[in-house]
Amino acid sequence: MRSATLSTLLLLSFFTSCGAETQAEVDPLQAPLGLENAQLELVDNNALTAAKAALGKKLFFDPRLSNSGKMGCVNCHHTDKAFTDGIAHSIKDSGKQNSRNSPTMYNVGYYPELYWDGRKVGLESNVLAAWTGQLGGAPADVAKTLNGIAAYKAEFQAAFKADASETTIVNALTSFLRTLRSGNSLYDQKKLSADAQAGQELFATKACATCHVPPLFSDKAYHNVGIGLAAENPDLGRANKTKDAGDNGKFKTPTLRDISKTAPYFHDGSVASLKEAVKLMASGGLDHKFAKDGLLIDRQLSDQEIDQLVAFLESLDNGVTFVEPVLPK
Ligand code: HEC
Ligand code: HEC
Repeated sequence: MRSATLSTLLLLSFFTSCGAETQAEVDPLQAPLGLENAQLELVDNNALTAAKAALGKKLFFDPRLSNSGKMGCVNCHHTDKAFTDGIAHSIKDSGKQNSRNSPTMYNVGYYPELYWDGRKVGLESNVLAAWTGQLGGAPADVAKTLNGIAAYKAEFQAAFKADASETTIVNALTSFLRTLRSGNSLYDQKKLSADAQAGQELFATKACATCHVPPLFSDKAYHNVGIGLAAENPDLGRANKTKDAGDNGKFKTPTLRDISKTAPYFHDGSVASLKEAVKLMASGGLDHKFAKDGLLIDRQLSDQEIDQLVAFLESLDNGVTFVEPVLPK
């Protein structure tokens, strides 16, 4: 009787600790410091699990997802640049050039709409488009290749009780992306330098925080701040999706977390340094033929105040150490 109770207890504690370990990695309720009150966009038919996220992490790095067999998601979303690529316009697997700058992958799980113009609703439809568009991936062929690799096939079975397919590949990738959460910065830890504190005050009082709303530093909405609109045939942004002229030149407010690592800036990668980007925003954006957002006015900040804003933004880098996966052979 006693030993039965003991072994039951041991068994229970074994399962409890296993569960706790898995949860620590991906429990959507367990956000990093600073994001406790932000709500991940989750979907019913793809519950977030540790097994799916670990598999998706491998797929994100794997060039076998591409048409050429040479390009992975990570080629444009580098881990050391907060999952951006340091260039204005990357080249797709097809050889065609992108017209927009690669955004960070941190906190993408919090956006209901994806891409600079929000044209994709939900991460699953975005990721399928990225896979077929950027990588030129042919889902059925890639699934066949992956099912021919024993270690992958076993991981798909463990995560989904199904083989690799268009759906399971996409669902693993989105599960991984939902675990890429950026918080725990000096700002979240309330360890700001005096300059960064002064910058935080400016950020709040000069309307920056009205659009770049903490804790994600985005209102998930679309605004016209004038970037790239002086061109002869400008990228109309949100209006490409809505066909509403009132949306001409609007782009999704990007997060400012990890912003020190994601140069060049703006949807067209037209600004090389963070200081220049901040100056441009604080002086009212750029003028052009479309209606600019009324909050974009010249705030008449001194060079010192611009530096303080930059110091504040530099304190939004996350405390994540990213460990690259080993790909199945
Ligand atoms: C050749 C470069 C390139 C590759 C490869 C690439 N991406 Fe991207 N990614 C981009 C660009 C550029 C954008 C912005 C496009 C836009 O907004 O119109 C983007 C946007 C995204 C977004 C939207 C982020 C947001 O904030 O709205 C997600 C998510 C994403 N990519 C995931 C992936 C995944 C997953 C893969 C692999 C299947 C991948 N990307 C491969 C260049 C790339
Ligand atoms: C009306 C809303 C709004 C206000 C106010 C605003 N921003 Fe922005 N911000 C945006 C949008 C939208 C973009 C993206 C524009 C684009 O790429 O076309 C942006 C882009 C940026 C970027 C570049 C981010 C990147 O990833 O490329 C920085 C830096 C920035 N803003 C800082 C600030 C600062 C500092 C202030 C206050 C002085 C501010 N913003 C005020 C909406 C706003």
